[in-house]
Amino acid sequence: MKTKKNPLYTSVTSILLATASTLAQPVLASSIQGFTDADERAITIYKSPSCGCCQSWVEYLEANGFKTKIVNTNSLYEIKQKHSVPREMASCHTALINGLVIEGHVPASDILAYLENPQFNIIGLSVPGMIQGSPGMETGKKEEYQVIAFSANGQQSVFREYKDY
Ligand code: CU
Ligand code: CU
Repeated sequence: MKTKKNPLYTSVTSILLATASTLAQPVLASSIQGFTDADERAITIYKSPSCGCCQSWVEYLEANGFKTKIVNTNSLYEIKQKHSVPREMASCHTALINGLVIEGHVPASDILAYLENPQFNIIGLSVPGMIQGSPGMETGKKEEYQVIAFSANGQQSVFREYKDY
């Protein structure tokens, strides 16, 4: 008997797997018991214990239906390094949802939009710095800002732009 590698078989399998993982997600989620990350709105936020705007962003997410888990830490630099957040993408807090990094004051709608339609190679979304007017930074002033999608190899692209909001 000879076992020949069949390239067609391999590609069909990967297509099937890809389809299955997109379609079967809700079923999968409910079958994993006690594992909150299976819930697509379960988000873990690493932040400094004393950061007020981080706390505001957490409350904003909760108001938008997210289940938040807060990890207070003074080692945010290490957290950002561990999750490959580029230096120029850095903000006050780093969060994780379904393996996606959320850096800074990213709007809830953008997180959900991305998760519904993930992009190849993207590892995170960021609103770099501290933008007045972004969620959790409601100061009365509204600065223009962009939500940036970044990849592990340093590529960055504009995911959303906020001008008149
Ligand atoms: Cu902040
Ligand atoms: Cu923050």
